[in-house]
Amino acid sequence: MKKPVRVAVTGAAGQIGYSLLFRIASGEVFGEDTPVQLSLIELPAAVKSCEGTAMEIEDCGFKTLDKIDIYDNTDAGFNGINWALLVGSKPRGPGMERNDLIRDNGHIFVGQGKSLNKAASDVNIVVVGNPCNTNSLIAQHNCKDIPPTRFTAMTMLDENRAKAQLAKKAGVGVGQIANLGIWGNHSSTMVPDFEHATIGGKPVTDVIKDRNWLETTFFTTVQKRGAAIIEARGKSSAASAASACIDHVKQFMRKTPQGEWFSAAVASTGNPYDIPPGLIFSFPVRSLGDGKGYEIVKDVKLSSFMRDKIAATTKELMEEREVVKNMLVK
Ligand code: NAD
Ligand code: LMR
Repeated sequence: MKKPVRVAVTGAAGQIGYSLLFRIASGEVFGEDTPVQLSLIELPAAVKSCEGTAMEIEDCGFKTLDKIDIYDNTDAGFNGINWALLVGSKPRGPGMERNDLIRDNGHIFVGQGKSLNKAASDVNIVVVGNPCNTNSLIAQHNCKDIPPTRFTAMTMLDENRAKAQLAKKAGVGVGQIANLGIWGNHSSTMVPDFEHATIGGKPVTDVIKDRNWLETTFFTTVQKRGAAIIEARGKSSAASAASACIDHVKQFMRKTPQGEWFSAAVASTGNPYDIPPGLIFSFPVRSLGDGKGYEIVKDVKLSSFMRDKIAATTKELMEEREVVKNMLVK
């Protein structure tokens, strides 16, 4: 067996936690030869419920599960971890935008950034809790000793949603869709880039000739899918979010094959797309395969349609950054 991987999950007793933890413990993400040590972190009031989830995980008899610890604070819960899956935070309700949650959730990521700085070093951080790009920015600013490149936010759910919509429209299996990059914010301004995606190796626009559908129905369906789910279920997406979080970690664990990419929100370097440096912005990225190194895909030629959409999502992220400026350590 390899060295154990230590994975912290905040909000472990919540609905995403319940769909996520079992799959991490099962060996699906880090492999059959890697023992998994889980660090479940919850608010004190939810620790008992978390204990119940931990009992169920044990009862699955996963051979890869090495141990489970439960914490009500992040200084202890983040000690020596390799992955921090930051889910714990309030979800939005009907009629809200995700960034309406900034004032409720932002402070959580100030404390978690500080705890990561104290307790962990060789760690990759994935923020799921909304608004996830800006929460990741807050955590990163409060964690000066860990490189900004280790902080990500999840837009894999948006990529998966976009692929599913294209597959349905084209009448093909979702496995036929590749290189669907999400640009910008995990919000209703996100940009699902159909212009560089492929269906069965051909450009999407050669297979789906209805450009009006791509620019309107497809775009808004993907941008508003989270709200549609809340409207239908009365609660926000959970199993699909957990599944996307698993996909996100898996993508960073394997070297992305030549010519392919996936979506993740990472720290902008300012080049080559003129996104303000430091913003946690979703780009098409390629993993170097060691779980932490990645590159932003640099050679995507953007049409004026895509550039206008990307400008709008950039503006929104800059406005979010302005709202939380007091939480950002310079
Ligand atoms: P939930 O309410 O079911 O669970 C959240 C859990 O977090 C609760 O158990 C709560 O006790 C815990 N929690 C709250 N503050 C905490 C803190 N400071 N430390 C540790 N735990 C804390 O919510 P959920 O459905 O699991 O969603 C969690 C978050 O994920 C929400 O913000 C939601 O909007 C977001 N989300 C993001 C995506 C995405 O694609 N990025 C997708 C779905 C949901
Ligand atoms: C989603 O996209 O489903 C999540 O971000 C939850 C939400 O509030 O939409």
